[in-house]
Amino acid sequence: MIGARQFKRTRRVGERSVRARISDSSLFWIPDFGPERPSAMTRIIHANWYDFPQYYDLAFRDETRAEAAFLQAAFTRYADGRVTTLLEPACGSGRLVRALAAKGFRVLAFDLNQRALVYCQRRLQARGLRATLFRADMCQFAVSQPVDAAFCTFDSFRHLLTEKHALQHLRCMAEAIRPGGVYILGVHLLPPDASDECVERWRARHGRLSLAVTLRVLKVDRRRRREWLRVSLRVQSPRRVVRIRHEFPLRIYTASQLRKTIGRCGQFDLCDTFDYWYEIDRPSQFNDDMADTVLVLRRKSR
Ligand SMILES: C[S@@+](CC[C@H](N)C(=O)[O-])C[C@H]1O[C@@H](n2cnc3c(N)ncnc32)[C@H](O)[C@@H]1O
Repeated sequence: MIGARQFKRTRRVGERSVRARISDSSLFWIPDFGPERPSAMTRIIHANWYDFPQYYDLAFRDETRAEAAFLQAAFTRYADGRVTTLLEPACGSGRLVRALAAKGFRVLAFDLNQRALVYCQRRLQARGLRATLFRADMCQFAVSQPVDAAFCTFDSFRHLLTEKHALQHLRCMAEAIRPGGVYILGVHLLPPDASDECVERWRARHGRLSLAVTLRVLKVDRRRRREWLRVSLRVQSPRRVVRIRHEFPLRIYTASQLRKTIGRCGQFDLCDTFDYWYEIDRPSQFNDDMADTVLVLRRKSR
């Protein structure tokens, strides 16, 4: 039995701090849910945590630089030909859209969540960057011109709860990427002998705003290939404390199951596999021991 899997790129269990680097504090507003009550009674808001892209962005900010550098290195190493145009399905707050637009790529990105898209646009504007954003569903979308490369990390793919939707997504991606282009897919796999239990906690800070994130796996149903997660955010500013709680299901994959789904799509070759340490010179074995997994897929020639 191996230990609890982890959702963040960290080998340490427990809390850690992230130092703030972003200067535009207006982008880190706390919604006005009224004054704070005594701590034991602080109100818990049950809401979709993706509706708070500013906190999502802050929570994962320290991952972004290494991830963007890895993506750029992987495009160069694995794509046939030059990579200038990119697509990110389920871009969320757009942390990677910004990072890659800043490196000079032409980025197209979409998400279902309108609030995330608005936030992404504002953050791009604040930095004088450009990207093409639109609202769409990961399993039903098309782009007017195929891109050179695409990426979808941090488990967005596992939001697609059925094989049908996963395949629809992969087929849309195959249409959206030119032959020889790459699709980089980041997924937390659940090894067959992994513990079902998983709790992770970490902290991030921006100026006087501090964010505590707790991510807990509530239930795992391996037969139905579902797990239920609860994300709890505690957002504290000098004026108030807000707690946000979101429970949602994700689809479970072992390495063999993911390999099968990609095989059924039939339009991608697997080039290499990595873990969430994003070390381009250290590929991993794609087998059922893998948990944090980044696949580099190449679009087959027609
Ligand atoms: C874990 S976040 C990942 C965001 C971003 N890829 C990143 O790495 O920061 C998952 C995102 O998937 C989006 N999402 C979930 N289901 C979707 C769907 N069917 N189509 C498009 N976006 C979806 C959510 O709105 C959320 O922004």
